[in-house]
Amino acid sequence: MSEKATLNIHGKSYEFDVITGTENETCIDIQQLRAESGIITMDPGFGNTGSCYSSITYVDGAKGILKYRGYPIEEIAEKASFTETAYLVLYGELPTPQQLREFSSRLREHAPLHTNLEHHFSGFPKEAPPMAILSAMLNLVSCFHPEVLEVPTTGEQFDRTASLLLSKVRTIAAFAYRMASGKPINHPNPNLSYCGNFLHMMFSDPYQEYEVSPVVDKALNLFLVLHADHEQNCSTSTVRVVGSSRANLFSSVAAGVCALWGPLHGGANAAVIAMLEDIKDSGRPLNHYLDRAKDKDDQFKLMGFGHRVYKNFDPRSLILKNQVHEVLKALNIQDGLLDVALELEEATLKDDYFVSRNLYPNVDFYSGILLRAIGIPLNMYTVMFAIGRMPGWIANWKELHDHKQRISRPRQIYTGETTRPFIPLMER
Ligand code: CMC
Repeated sequence: MSEKATLNIHGKSYEFDVITGTENETCIDIQQLRAESGIITMDPGFGNTGSCYSSITYVDGAKGILKYRGYPIEEIAEKASFTETAYLVLYGELPTPQQLREFSSRLREHAPLHTNLEHHFSGFPKEAPPMAILSAMLNLVSCFHPEVLEVPTTGEQFDRTASLLLSKVRTIAAFAYRMASGKPINHPNPNLSYCGNFLHMMFSDPYQEYEVSPVVDKALNLFLVLHADHEQNCSTSTVRVVGSSRANLFSSVAAGVCALWGPLHGGANAAVIAMLEDIKDSGRPLNHYLDRAKDKDDQFKLMGFGHRVYKNFDPRSLILKNQVHEVLKALNIQDGLLDVALELEEATLKDDYFVSRNLYPNVDFYSGILLRAIGIPLNMYTVMFAIGRMPGWIANWKELHDHKQRISRPRQIYTGETTRPFIPLMER
């Protein structure tokens, strides 16, 4: 017999199914609680609420474990390209060589933008935030490809739409950067790899084709692989909430980009660099920043520290930290910000405030230093996160539909006025 959980309230007893996942995580299925008792549960920020069943990504925050489709992140990071990882996240299995060739060829085919879509870039003011451009342009794609408005989640049309999105996000991102910095756009080159093509669109100039170094190509692949999915985080939950109204895939991921933009989420990678630069340039002691981060009356937080789920270490941060050392060495770069970052991490490890709250470096802490080393401009850091997260967003949107999940619609506890008589305007 399956295990049950019992709730006793207001003199009555209610029984609920206990559900166990494949990694033995446990939850109480309270779906019938309100119908049976009129009572709801309260969990602002959804810190303790399961919102779906998913077979894409597993995170064990206590042990620092992250797996995509059952494969540990450490192995994927070492052995897989971003394209291979995207296929795995999207379809659930590692691709055969033939499947990967076909997938890569679809990505190449969809890299160019519709000419009229391209014209829209010239309407943005110079120095417009690339995240705003990215979100707007992703939404616009459906105007030029109306077939993406009705996407089945299996078969040829899904394959086509998923690769169209994965490919176009990279082109849109590079064009957003070019426009925002007042430079002419570079059209995609079908002979280049996923990352190589992105770097070409970002950095080639009319007289000098950007030469992709293997070190940079590897580092960019790794960055994207580490961001490919992270189960029900703020932006992925947003994609699911929007998608649950049966909004199309492009609108759903455009909303995901907006959620990612905030400094508590993907925006943290750029905020970390701003913070490290401030520490380095101000000459103030580290304690000044630690004290501010601990002060409840100060809005300041140590960016790149803390995580809702990881309470021991973020495995992505450890991989990135090692990679940063390797890349800086291979490219012969001395980056003073890395020294500041290492000192800051060390100082927090000795500080009871951070230790007692399990605040360790998260994925965003070292990723900015890696992006700096390979020449990505600061205003593009969160855009890079969005490109990386696209496979996860698409896979979650697909899964939501495959599971025929109901529209997202949380409840609330009302704390406003109770009923009161309306007073006509002249009497007020
Ligand atoms: N600096 C100082 N104190 C912190 C920090 C920080 N970075 N993060 C959490 N705390 C404190 C927080 O004030 C609270 O203290 P107390 O218990 O005394 O009230 C305690 O630690 C628990 O934090 P919380 O705010 O309840 O944790 P949360 O799960 O709601 O928020 C977080 C998680 C990541 C938003 C938060 O740790 C944070 O703001 N970190 C800085 C921004 C950041 O690096 N974001 C990237 C997250 S990882 C990648 C991603 O998802 O994009």
